[in-house]
Parts: sequence; C-alpha cells; structure tokens
Amino acid sequence: MNKDLIWHPFTQQMGAAPELKIISGDGVYLFDSDGNKYIDLISSWWVNLHGHANPEIARAIYDQALKLEHVIFAGFTHDPAIKLCEELSNLIPTNLTKFFFSDNGSTSVEIALKMAYQFWYNQGHTDKTLFLSFEGAYHGDTLGAMSVSHSGFHDHFEKLKFKSIKIKFPDTWINDDEVVEKEEKALIELEQALDRYAGKISAFILEPLIQGAGGMRMCRASFLDRALSLIRERGILIIFDEVMTGFCRTGTFLALDQITIKPDFLCLSKGITGGFLPLALTITTDKVYSAFLGNDFSTAFAHGHSYTANPIACAAAIKSIEMLKYCNLQGIHSAHLNGLEILKRSNRISNFRVCGTVSAFEVCLMHHNLNTELRRRFLSKGMLLRPLGNTVYLLPPYCITVEEINNAYVGILEVIDGI
Ligand SMILES: Cc1ncc(COP(=O)(O)O)c(C=O)c1O
Repeated sequence: MNKDLIWHPFTQQMGAAPELKIISGDGVYLFDSDGNKYIDLISSWWVNLHGHANPEIARAIYDQALKLEHVIFAGFTHDPAIKLCEELSNLIPTNLTKFFFSDNGSTSVEIALKMAYQFWYNQGHTDKTLFLSFEGAYHGDTLGAMSVSHSGFHDHFEKLKFKSIKIKFPDTWINDDEVVEKEEKALIELEQALDRYAGKISAFILEPLIQGAGGMRMCRASFLDRALSLIRERGILIIFDEVMTGFCRTGTFLALDQITIKPDFLCLSKGITGGFLPLALTITTDKVYSAFLGNDFSTAFAHGHSYTANPIACAAAIKSIEMLKYCNLQGIHSAHLNGLEILKRSNRISNFRVCGTVSAFEVCLMHHNLNTELRRRFLSKGMLLRPLGNTVYLLPPYCITVEEINNAYVGILEVIDGI
C-alpha cells in the first residue's frame, strides 16, 4: 500500500498524522480499520443529516441508479430534478422560483456571483464589478468564492482575487454585553461603504446567522434585517449562502426563515443529499431569470458542469428532505444548552453560543499547537471533532440522541481540563 498517493484537502501534508481509514458508518458512528468507533459530532464536514449509511437514502439511490444514472442536463431533463425542485418550492420563499443545479457549495456561490454580475451586465450596467461581504466570511475555494471570503485561508491568492468590500460582522454569544455596541458600529461601517461604493456593487453575499469556517461565529437575526434593509434600499442584490446553514441546521428549514428580508439568490449544498452525494443549487427570482432572456445566446448564462443535476443525487435529496420531518431538532438544541451547564465547570471555556443544532465556544489555553492537540485528544476519546483554531463546535447528524450529546460535552470537558 502506498499511503503517499493521495493529497488530502486542507492539510499540511508534511508532518501530518496518518489518516484514519474509515471502513464503515452506522448512524452517528464511524468505524476505522482497527475496529475503533468514533461518534461523528461534526456531520463529516457538515454534510450528514440522518446518520451514516442510512438505509432509506441508500435504497432511494439504488432504485434510481437502476432506472437512470445520469443524462446531459442541457436540452434534457428528468423526474428526480423536477420533483426535487417542486418539493423545495414548497419550503422556500415564494420569490425564489428558478433553480440552477451544480455539485458543490463553492460552485453554487460562484454561480450566484456570476449571475448577479451578468444580471446587471445584460441591462447595460457593465461596471458593477464589486461585491460586499462580511469579515470572517467563508464562501468556498473557487476563485470567485475566495474573492468574497475573508476568513484568512486564501491570503496567498490576494492578487488573483477580484475586489470585494469587507464589512464588520458583529459576532455574539450567550451573555454578550457588547452586542448592541458591535452591531451599531457594523451598521455605521456598512452605511459608509454603501455611500462610497453602492453604484459599483453587484451583490452582497452572506452566511445568514452562522459563519461556518470563519469560526462558527453567530449573529442576531435582528441585526441582519437592519443590515439587509440598507442593502435593499440601494438596489443591491442579496445572496444568502446557506451551504452550511440550510436543511435545519439553524433550527428552521433555512436560516432565512428567521430573517424578514428575503434574498435574491439562495445557495444550497452540503446537507442537500443527507451527506450521500455531491449536489448543489443556486435558486433565484423571476426578475433575475428574465434578465437573461434574449433572441441569441449572448445574454444566456453560459455555465454548466458535467454532473449537473445528477439524477441519483436528486433522488437522495428528495428522500433526505422527506426524512427531515422526523428529526428531533428541538431536542438537540436543548441538549446544547444543557451542555453549557456542563462546560461552565471549566474556566477554560468562553463565548458559548448556540443556534439551532449548532453550538460553539472558545478554548482559552496557551498552547503552542492547541488545535492539533485538541483534535488528537478528542479522537483518542472516540469523538470526531475538528476545532477551527481555538473554536470547538458541535454540528451533529440529527439522529444523535440527547444522551449522546450530554456524554459528548462531558468528554469534551475532560479533554480540555486534561491539557
Ligand atoms: C457557507 C459555505 N459556503 C460554501 C462552502 C463551500 O462548499 P464546498 O466545500 O462544498 O465547495 C462552504 C464549505 O464549508 C461553506 O461553509
């Protein structure tokens, strides 16, 4: 066996610990080749909703694969794509009516950015080259998505990125005394940016309620409504990147259900297939769609990928969405709040925050390599957790039990106090 064949994502390969070889999954657990069992507390890069190797989704995939595995999606369509869009239409705001498929979160963002720019371009506004986004934002790894991200992962690509204006994100937590002050400052900064650049901005992109890779930073819905109404007043398009927050992560089907102002674009991926297969959607309005209609190809949206709207992935998504009805979201939320009571026993933990099924907190410890040390210790206790810097977060599959969450908090406390 040659271990060195594979170059792993988001990994400094030099000195990296040997990868764990996972051979099977069952519900909230993963099993490695040595027979060790790990509880997946991060839904395996935030994609898994109903547990690993879920038999209902597996069966939907099998049935679809026997019928039609794939077909070119330009000039052709198929029932799984149509049904998925119909199901989603019943669950999202009525202004979002046009569904564009792709196959990963970064691309769903890339498509929204390109559509927003071309929306203006097709109407003769060719100089709206700017985008607006929050500090700490992470929208993916393709060039456009990197350009609107400010989470520190892509600094070496600075010269390749197009320009995006960064505004303050007033992240907050339980018992945060300064939240109002932070929000007011962010709104002032936003107004200043709008005064200066509004005419050149195509769209504002944000991760509503929770910034994921930027450190599971959370903000209040009331702040977003105020910020978004300033954006709307200036006629700037709004893109909600719900790649992570979608499919009930924040306690409602989408984070946008907690926000009054609705977006012009919605990006979905990750949990869409329950974590089984790659799929993404960029959903927009009739108004945006209409701006691409014309007598020749010049105004069309020239974008598409080989696996766009893969029927097997669509079948998995339909089944996964149907299964969301039975998830104990409230139980997970309450178990996180109870977790806070457990973590309070340590003075090494601060800024605890919860939104729906996601919780996060900071570990206050001086250690030369805290992140790696935490990961290693969690794994050796049978817990798959992947802190972001000093931030530990839980984002479990929805089939987790309250008891499993409670045990996880006890285990986390032991690890942190044991360093
Ligand atoms: C909010 C958000 N947008 C976009 C992406 C990129 O998605 P993908 O990794 O599927 O390209 C991520 C990934 O973590 C994300 O959290």
